[in-house]
Amino acid sequence: MSSLNYIHRYEPAPLPAVGPAKAGPVLLLHGTGGNENDLLPIGRQLAPGSALLSPRGDVSEHGMPRFFRRFGEGIFDLDDVARRTNALADFIIAAGSRYGFATNQLTALGYSNGANIAASLLLLRPEVLARAVLLRPMVVLQPDQLPDLSGKQIILLSGRSDPIVPVDHPPRLAGQFRRAGARVELHWLETGHQLTDEDLAQAARFMASA
Ligand code: MLT
Repeated sequence: MSSLNYIHRYEPAPLPAVGPAKAGPVLLLHGTGGNENDLLPIGRQLAPGSALLSPRGDVSEHGMPRFFRRFGEGIFDLDDVARRTNALADFIIAAGSRYGFATNQLTALGYSNGANIAASLLLLRPEVLARAVLLRPMVVLQPDQLPDLSGKQIILLSGRSDPIVPVDHPPRLAGQFRRAGARVELHWLETGHQLTDEDLAQAARFMASA
C-alpha cells in the first residue's frame, strides 16, 4: 500500500534555485524522542537547494517517537523493523508522486534511530535511496541476502566514545554495505552519541561531492 500516512513536513526546493542545479531531495530521519521538525534546520544548511521531506516516526516509546519498536536498548523487534521499513519506503514513494520529486535521487540524512531506519531502507528497499548520511548508526538487520547497492554512496559518522553504539557495529555495517557494492566512507569522530560541528562538516563535504 502506498499512502502519505506519516505525519511529516515537506519543504520544496527554494525558488529561484540555490546551490548546485542538480541538488536532489533530502529525507530527514530524526532520533528517538525527536520529531519532524528537528533536522529541518540542519537539512536546509547542508542542502540549501534541495526539497526536504521529514516524517515523524510512527512508533511511540513512552511518548517518544521512533521509526521501529525495540524491546530494550539495542534489542530490536526485527519483524517490526521490516514492516516499518517497508511502510516508510511506501510513504517515500507516495510523497515523491504527491510532491513531485524523484526518489532515485533521494539522500537520507538520519540520526541515531533515524540512521538505523535509513540503513534498513538501504538493505530492504534500496530503490528509494541514492545516498545516505548515517549519523551514529548501528547494526540492526543482518540479512542473509544482501541487496545490490552498486551506485549508492553512504557515509557513516560514528563517535569513538558513543555509549549507545557498540564499537564493532559501525565497521560491521560498513562491511555489509561494501559487500553489497556501495561506495562507503566510515569516519570516527572524537565524540559520543551527540552531534558535533565535525558531523556537519563531513556531511556537507559528502553531500557537495555527491
Ligand atoms: C535505536 O534504538 O535505534 C538505537 O538504539 C538508537 C536510539 O537510541 O534510538
